[in-house]
Amino acid sequence: MSTLPAAGQPLAIKRLLPPGAPASAQEIVEGFGLHHHSSPGFDALAPGALTRPRLLLNMVSTIDGRATIGGRSGPIGGPADRQLFHALRTVVDAVMVGAGTARAERYGRIVREEAARELRRARGLREEPLACIVSGRLALDADIPLLADPQAQVAILTASQASLSASEQPDGARIEAQVEYIRASSEGRLDLPSALSELRERFGIGTVLCEGGPHLNTQLLAAGLVDELFLSLSPKLAGGDASGETLRILAGMDLEPPGELELLGALEHDSHLFLRYGVRGERDGVRGARAGSTASPPLSEPPAAPPR
Ligand SMILES: NC(=O)c1ccc[n+]([C@@H]2O[C@H](COP(=O)([O-])OP(=O)(O)OC[C@H]3O[C@@H](n4cnc5c(N)ncnc54)[C@H](OP(=O)(O)O)[C@@H]3O)[C@@H](O)[C@H]2O)c1
Repeated sequence: MSTLPAAGQPLAIKRLLPPGAPASAQEIVEGFGLHHHSSPGFDALAPGALTRPRLLLNMVSTIDGRATIGGRSGPIGGPADRQLFHALRTVVDAVMVGAGTARAERYGRIVREEAARELRRARGLREEPLACIVSGRLALDADIPLLADPQAQVAILTASQASLSASEQPDGARIEAQVEYIRASSEGRLDLPSALSELRERFGIGTVLCEGGPHLNTQLLAAGLVDELFLSLSPKLAGGDASGETLRILAGMDLEPPGELELLGALEHDSHLFLRYGVRGERDGVRGARAGSTASPPLSEPPAAPPR
């Protein structure tokens, strides 16, 4: 059994591809150069070519493909996975999740530690990434700590004209976050490409880190909106589908043709593998799937899930 390090103690993560000396999660992520795609230097890098932010997916899975254990992602990852997860948050302009993940994982503030905020400021980024929640029904309330926090800045991406309820819950909690809406609709469904373009135009977002969940991931891939996948492979075997609710990192519909990936990097710590893939294919091309249009098909309510 591995010994867990003290909280916050940077782990030495092995660099397999490209090879290099072991380094901390923060050093490795810094080396990705992702923050150079973020505002304010973004426009200089994209002379009219991009209409939307660069989008990175970050997911964790067991070796046998499970994206949840007991309805949550927390039991899958390990300490290095958590350090990489938080380090990635320090280099992007926005962190996006589906409403199912915000509810199940009870999302809170995106960057809590002052040292990480300071690091962001030093990189020329806003103190904290904009928290984006994709939702159809807007069934989001102050049970989600992010929404109860008056300091939090949140954007809701939706096709709906409704707004979050400001009424107090029985326990006295109410939505206190500063909430903006990106209402992008096509035939009554959320138009994800337009919503992402609006994120760039209205909020100056150059990079979005999408932390799931599986249903949202598939929508984004089907619409050709994903540039990279960070996949953390945990050395665990969780087994089959006794509950009938097993999720993999993608869910909801087939991708036709399947997405093609290119391995860009590999890291290892304590038998956990951390793989960085580029998504091959036409940028912003709709990848077919069964969506048929850039507007997303309706989604069923996901099963419920602590953040990694
Ligand atoms: N292993 C990992 O790395 C990882 C990462 C994230 C989450 N998870 C797990 O995955 C589970 C949640 O994932 P999930 O796939 O069930 O849910 P999800 O993708 O996070 O969220 C689905 C919800 O997001 C909204 N949504 C997504 N795409 C939409 C679209 N195109 N248009 C409008 N609304 C859209 C809808 O919200 P409304 O219901 O509000 O309409 C939908 O019900 C949890 O158990 C969580 O622990 C695992």
